[in-house]
This record gives sequence, structure tokens and C-alpha cells, in this order.
Amino acid sequence: MSKPRIVIIDDSLQQRGMIKSILAPVDADYFELSDGRNCAAVLGKIRPDLIIAKISTSFRGGRNLCALLKEDPSFDDLPLILLGHGEEAEDIAQGMATNAFVYLDTYEIQEKLVPTVQKAFAQSGIPQTGRSILVVDDSSSVRLLLDEELAKAGYQVLSAENGKDALAVLQQTQPDVILSDVYMPEMNGIELCETLHRDPRYSGIPFVVMSTENDAGNMKKMMQFGAAAFIIKPFNLEQLTMTLNKIFSYEFLLLLKENERLDGEQKLLLAGITSLVNALEARDNYTRGHSERVSQILAGLVRHIGGSQREIERARIAGRLHDIGKIGIRDDVLLKPGRLSKEEFDHIKQHPSIGASIIQTIPSIADILPVISFHHERVDGNGYPEGLKGSDIPFWARLTAVADTYDALTSDRPYRDGMEHKKAIAVINEVAGSQLCPESVRLFLEWSKQEMKEKIRNI
Ligand SMILES: [Fe+2]
Repeated sequence: MSKPRIVIIDDSLQQRGMIKSILAPVDADYFELSDGRNCAAVLGKIRPDLIIAKISTSFRGGRNLCALLKEDPSFDDLPLILLGHGEEAEDIAQGMATNAFVYLDTYEIQEKLVPTVQKAFAQSGIPQTGRSILVVDDSSSVRLLLDEELAKAGYQVLSAENGKDALAVLQQTQPDVILSDVYMPEMNGIELCETLHRDPRYSGIPFVVMSTENDAGNMKKMMQFGAAAFIIKPFNLEQLTMTLNKIFSYEFLLLLKENERLDGEQKLLLAGITSLVNALEARDNYTRGHSERVSQILAGLVRHIGGSQREIERARIAGRLHDIGKIGIRDDVLLKPGRLSKEEFDHIKQHPSIGASIIQTIPSIADILPVISFHHERVDGNGYPEGLKGSDIPFWARLTAVADTYDALTSDRPYRDGMEHKKAIAVINEVAGSQLCPESVRLFLEWSKQEMKEKIRNI
């Protein structure tokens, strides 16, 4: 089930942060905007379930926002919570004219924002998604106090008397956080923390320890068992709320860590493949530097057509790896200086498929497979390996074919010198429409003209 989406519009970063931290008990996806002007496109994309906007004299665009919500029928039932203090009566009237509208004074939000959001969700038929906390403590007065205070803040509270009891609760339901005492009969906090840490069903639930100041030894142990945070007794509710807010952003940290790990893995894999390319180029004088040059041209072309930074990076990788399959081609064929026999040519024609079988083992760069597989297709259908025609050939593969051809024409071979740029362009123009895609050739010409100008300017 997807989470409800809440858009917070406020020109103060600090205020937006405060609103989010008050809303920590509400499990939702949060989006932040600093301005209500020109937000139609963004709101159209996000399709929020609720908007919380500041409406005050310093806030630009509050009126535009209200007008937008009134004008666009698709926002008809979208609840809006306006926050303000000392704003103009006219602004409030503008807001009130929208369909679902609640006004809260900024002094009241600490207390009223969470229930107001929950009420708005209930009215729009959005299932309640309060975050839940399992409190584990053998003292009934501590359980009662926490139960009351956390429920007041908007959390759903579950409780257990000790570790064993907590495990029984976990059989029934999965809380968002576990808040546990250390010393308890039957099963203490350390044993509980270790048990949960070793069980993949529960190891992802953040475990917060309520500890005493002189318990460094146990704290260290529990940290090793993955405890997410410690709060030192006696604590007040504000400290607890702050810790919980941190925990919910801790989820975010975990995500970041995971991304970092994937990033690191990808870099290692790429480093491995790059050394394969280097190995290939060490074997074959002709491909030496060829992959790097194709990579630069392809990245330049993708930048030229307005590709994103990520796409430019992918193009760079694709160019570098486009001939990686040649690693599987026999020396006597790969290194043969003269004309190839039919059998030899058939063998070399396998390099796109060999390359694809290497690259497809790495899911994170699977999107460059079309370049590896189809850079030798021709728009007239006479290419290989599939004999694809025209726009059936993936666009990036068509661009790569132009870059590949240009570099092949302009680099030196054992039996001839590389062509001058002008002559190579003439050859490329000649084969546009038969071998090469005319649109890709046009883009290449545009780009190379610009490049030339740049080069001249930098001389
Ligand atoms: Fe190739």
C-alpha cells in the first residue's frame, strides 16, 4: 500500500523542518516547496493527498495557490491546512473559498497539527497510517506514562512487560520502533535486542534503548546488536520525541547507506570491466584508445541533445564498453591486419553478443545493453547481429554507430593513415540513410561543428 503524500509549502526551511518533525507520528511521504507560485506543475506530478501551506504576509504565492486549487477541478477534494499568524483577512477569505480548508494558528500546531492531519485523512477516506511504537518495560507506571504521552503526540502505542512478552507482541504486529528498558525479568533488553538482531523478520525495526547513565558496558553490547539509539533515564517527552524524529530520519540514513553500498559495488564492477577493456586494448593496437574516444563522442552527443547528467554518465560508460565483446574474439582474427575470410568475419560478428552476455550479469548497468548489442546494426537492415532496420535499432546504438564509424575513419591503421576530419565527414554523409541513421548523423555534424569551434576558441 502506498503512503499518503503530504506537500508542505513554507518559505522557511526551518519551519518546514519543524512541521515535519511535529508530523513524525504520521507515516507519509513528505514533499517540500518553498513557494506557492508556479506550483501547478509540481502538484500535478506529485498528486498530493494533503497540502499544508503557510499563509502569512511574508509568504509569496499563498493566493496563487488558493486560486490554483479552486480553478483546477482535479484538486477539488484536496484538503488544505493553512498555517498562519497575523495574516491579512483577505488571505484567509481566499483560502476559505477552497473546498476543504482548515486554518491553524502557528501557536497551535504543536498540539493540533497531527490530529488535524489525521482528521483530514479520515474525511478523504485515506487509511490511517500512524507510526507505531512498542514500549517494553517492566514498570507499569513507565508504560502508562509513555503510553499516554506518545499517544498524545499521535503515535500508536503497543506495550510489553519484558522481552519475552515483546516477542509475543511481534508475532501479531510489526511496530515502526521498539523502545525498550534494559533490566527486566524473564528476558532482558540485551537478550531481546540480540534476538531481534539475529532474526531477519525483525532486524530492520529500529531498537531504542532506555538506559541509565552508568551502563556503558551494556550500551556497547547493544550497539553491536544494532541498537539505533539510547536515551538516558530520566528523560522528558521532548528528548524522547527528538530521538524518535531522529530515528525516522535514521530510516533515511539506512537507505543512504544501502545506496552507498550499491554505488561502491558498481564502482568496483566498473573498475573490473575497465580493466577488461584495458586488457583488450593491450592485445589489439587498433582498439587502443578507440573505446575511450567513442565514449567521449557519445557522451558529447548525449549532452548535445539535452541528456541529464546521469544519461551523459551512462553514455560515457556505454562508449567505453561498446566493444568489450572483442575480448572473446580469437587473436588470429582480432589482430589480422588484412582482409578477413567469411569464417573470420562471422567470428568477429559475435562480439556484440559476447559483450551483451558479459554486461547483462551486472544489473546496475543493464540499461547500456542496447549499445553493446546493436552498435553494428545498419539502418538499411544489412548490419549485424539481428539485421534490425531504421528506428527498430535503439537510438543510442544508432548514435554509437556514428561515433564508432567516425573514430574508425580518423584513426591510423597498419595499412593506411587516418582520414582528415573533413574527409571523414564526407564519408559519413555518404552513408547516412544506408549504413548510418540520418538523424544521428545530423546530430553528430551539429555537435562536431560546435566542438571544432570550441577547440579553435581554446587554441
Ligand atoms: Fe564494435
